[in-house]
Amino acid sequence: MTRIIDGNAIASDIEADVQASVETLRDAGVQPGLATVLMSDDGASETYVSMKQQACDDLGIDGRHHEIDADAPADDLFDRIDDLNADESVHGILVQMPVPDHVEKRAVLERIDPEKDVDGFHPENVGRLVAGNARYKPCTPHGVQKILAAEGIETEGKEAVVVGRSDIVGKPMANLFIQYGDGGNATTTVCHSRTDDLAAKTREADILVAAAGVPEMIDGEMVKEGATVIDVGINRVDADTEKGYELVGDVDFESAKAKAGAITPVPGGVGPLTIAMLLYNTVKAASRQSGVGVDLA
Ligand code: GUN
Repeated sequence: MTRIIDGNAIASDIEADVQASVETLRDAGVQPGLATVLMSDDGASETYVSMKQQACDDLGIDGRHHEIDADAPADDLFDRIDDLNADESVHGILVQMPVPDHVEKRAVLERIDPEKDVDGFHPENVGRLVAGNARYKPCTPHGVQKILAAEGIETEGKEAVVVGRSDIVGKPMANLFIQYGDGGNATTTVCHSRTDDLAAKTREADILVAAAGVPEMIDGEMVKEGATVIDVGINRVDADTEKGYELVGDVDFESAKAKAGAITPVPGGVGPLTIAMLLYNTVKAASRQSGVGVDLA
């Protein structure tokens, strides 16, 4: 029987730990604060940011949302980041990606104080992750590690194949898989849009992470019998529903499920972990900046 992984349940357990740390901090007079910044009219980005803010409210984190007009000058965003860097009540800053084309993404990531970079996207934090000394692990790949740990799926010595090479998921996922220690020690292959004979590569995977942003591109033919399939994709495709779209992953769920030993659904798989790990990083940031210790696994 294929196990359908319940991402909501795993995220709830992590959020309970995060909440305990929020209370420890609050008892010491510190309320963790997360600033989210959206410079986009994209409906999906608006939804993601509002889910992050809702999760802050639920756990007693001081979530503050900032919106910048998508056609405003880039300096409006940089000035806002400077203000948030200087604000001691803000421990974490998240600028929702993507930003508009006239704003240089790398300049945005470099502008955020690395101590407040709860996405883990600042080059200093990327460097630390690669060096095996991460300050904040990027939320989605860290969430994938938490899923594997919660499900008792060993990575050591396994063939891990990551499909997608984004800065947000693919690259940090591969870097986490090759680190020494728990959740690492995997023999790791990164595939992307220029990979030759993708199916031959994915069929080698004991752990297959689909993070290419292409709806249902991984089907059962590309999955090894008994593999663990982790679907990071959240794609809106046109559908005859009230909203006019439905959400599908990068994996063709039914055909992949027929081959997999365990598989994450979309929605309800990786998505809830991304949010849980953002809250985790925010509490870690508040702890680091205040000097109040917390007990986070
Ligand atoms: N856009 C899609 N995923 C993410 C994420 O994890 N963080 C930020 N900042 N933007 C995103």
